[in-house]
Amino acid sequence: MAKDIVCSGIRPTGNLHLGNYFGALRNFVRMQDEYDCFFFVADYHSLTTHPTPGSIYADARTILVQYLAAGIDPERATVYLQSDLPETIELYLFLNMNAYLGELERVTSFKDKVRQNPGNVNAGLLTYPTLMAADILIHKATRVPVGKDQQQHLEMTRTFAQRFNNMYHSEVFPLPQAVGFGNDLVKIPALNGSGKMGKSEGEASTIFLTDEPSVVRKKIMKAKSDSGPIEPNQRKPEEIENLFTLMRAVSSPDTVAYFDDLYNRCQIRYGDMKKQLAEDMVAFIEPLRQRIIEIGADEASLRRIIDRGCEKAHASAATTLAEVRQAIGYRH
Ligand code: TRP
Repeated sequence: MAKDIVCSGIRPTGNLHLGNYFGALRNFVRMQDEYDCFFFVADYHSLTTHPTPGSIYADARTILVQYLAAGIDPERATVYLQSDLPETIELYLFLNMNAYLGELERVTSFKDKVRQNPGNVNAGLLTYPTLMAADILIHKATRVPVGKDQQQHLEMTRTFAQRFNNMYHSEVFPLPQAVGFGNDLVKIPALNGSGKMGKSEGEASTIFLTDEPSVVRKKIMKAKSDSGPIEPNQRKPEEIENLFTLMRAVSSPDTVAYFDDLYNRCQIRYGDMKKQLAEDMVAFIEPLRQRIIEIGADEASLRRIIDRGCEKAHASAATTLAEVRQAIGYRH
C-alpha cells in the first residue's frame, strides 16, 4: 500500500518559539519517518495580511533554518518555500472557480481578520482557505498536521476536494484528514500566567528558539507566580500550573516530582523552582539555538537544500496538475 502523504506549512511571522516546537515542529520531525512528507513555508499566505512584507525571503529563510535545526531532514522530507511552487497558484485558480462567496465569508478566521483590519479586506484574505487547500491538494496529501485553529480550513479543503471530484466526475483528490498534534501534545503556556505561548501574549511571555541563555533566564525569572500555597495538596492556580507544565516539557520527571512534592507540603519557593526551570530551559534551547546559527551561516548548503526541495515539490505538483487539467478538459 502506498504511504500516506503528509503536508503542512507555517507562515513566516518571525522566530519560532517553544509553543511551535512542542506543537508543529516536533510532530513534523516524528512524521518524516513514517510518511511521505511535504513541509513548506507559507510565504504566499503572508501577503493576505501584509501586502508589502519588505523582507519576505529573509523571513521565509528564518523558518526554513529553524525547521532544519529542529530536525526536519531534507533527505527524508520535502522542504520548500511555497513561493517556489507556483503550480499551487494554478490549482488555487481552479479551486476558486468552485468556491462560493457565502462559504468563504462564513470562515471564522476571515471574520476575525475583517474585525481586526477592516481597511484591508482583500480577495486573497477571503480566499485564504482555497490557497491552503491548493497547498494540500497539489500533493494529494491525506494527513495534515495542524492545530485546532486550522480545523475549519481543513474541513473546507475536504469540501473543495470532494466538489472538484464530483464536478469533473473524477477521483483526482483524496480527502485529507486533519491530524492533531497527537495525544502527548503539550500545550505550552505563556509566561504571563494566561493563554498560550505565542506572539499574541507578547515577546516577554514567549521563549524563542533563538533566545540567548541570559534572555531565557530573565524571562523565566519574571514569569508570573503567586505568594504560595497555604494548605497542603491545594489545587494549583493557572499561573503555577503553567510553571509546572513548562517544567514537565524540559526538565526530568524527578525534578518535576521534587517541586510538586514541595508544593503539596507548602514548602515551595518559586524563586528556586524558577532557577531550576531556567537552567533546564537553557539546556533545552541552547543546542537548538546553536544549530540555528550554524545552519543559517551556511548559505551554500541552504541554497542546495532549497533548490532540491523545490525540485521535489515540482515533481509532485506536476503529476497532480496534469490530472487536474485533464479532468477539467484542458490540453495536457
Ligand atoms: N494556515 C496555516 C497557519 O496559519 C498555514 C498553512 C498554509 C498551512 N497552508 C497550509 C498549514 C497547508 C497546513 C497545510 O497555521
